[in-house]
Amino acid sequence: MRNDYGYIDIHAHILPEVDDGAKSIDETRAMLRMAYDQGVRTIIATPHADSDSDKDTSYLLHQLTLVREEAFKIDNNFQIYLGNEIYYENGCLTKLKQGKIFTMAESRYVLVEFHPQESYNIMYEGMRNFILEGYIPIIAHIERYGCLRKKENRIQELIELGCYMQVNAKSLSGGLFDFESAYLRKLVVKGLVHIIATDCHNNTFRPPVIEECVKKLLKCVDEEKIKCLLFDNPKKILEDQYI
Ligand SMILES: [Fe+2]
Repeated sequence: MRNDYGYIDIHAHILPEVDDGAKSIDETRAMLRMAYDQGVRTIIATPHADSDSDKDTSYLLHQLTLVREEAFKIDNNFQIYLGNEIYYENGCLTKLKQGKIFTMAESRYVLVEFHPQESYNIMYEGMRNFILEGYIPIIAHIERYGCLRKKENRIQELIELGCYMQVNAKSLSGGLFDFESAYLRKLVVKGLVHIIATDCHNNTFRPPVIEECVKKLLKCVDEEKIKCLLFDNPKKILEDQYI
């Protein structure tokens, strides 16, 4: 598939020595190269923000500078922005309002993940509270939550509330007999997925991979839809526009 616009990856643990993502700047460099070779031209770095995170915002900004320098060496148009992947727990909204957690590239969008067994009521109420405070939630890797599995009415309800749905590229890359993956592709076809991202953590077993996902998706949606999921919608996040 032709990709002259450059994918935008909005979920990446690419900052070195920050969370369970890149362990060194060397690993970051390798991940940047892999992402670039697959057509990624913009990344929002999203280190985990949870009660165990001990890195403050100034440290994250410092690490961001290092990653930007590495990206610049690959291509001076390779852009890196900062966000966080917020683990939903007591106090996370307060920390966000206090500026201790980053929104996505200084927009109103926030990337939020939940415990895989979180109840739907808590998820819904939590997202409602974020929205009431003026944030626009993107629910990270929706394929992971038991309360949303095969519950399209709930996904629809969260979308109507004002949330956006992100699925990991890897989860969409399974073959015909990977029923979970085939089901997720159906969600894409039904318009219940807004963004695809890599959620890359390293250059080995959780690398930035997109190509296989695109190949599989092309069997059920057109190129325009793929562009929407990997470029148009992510671009709206960067521009702080509603998707
Ligand atoms: Fe993540």
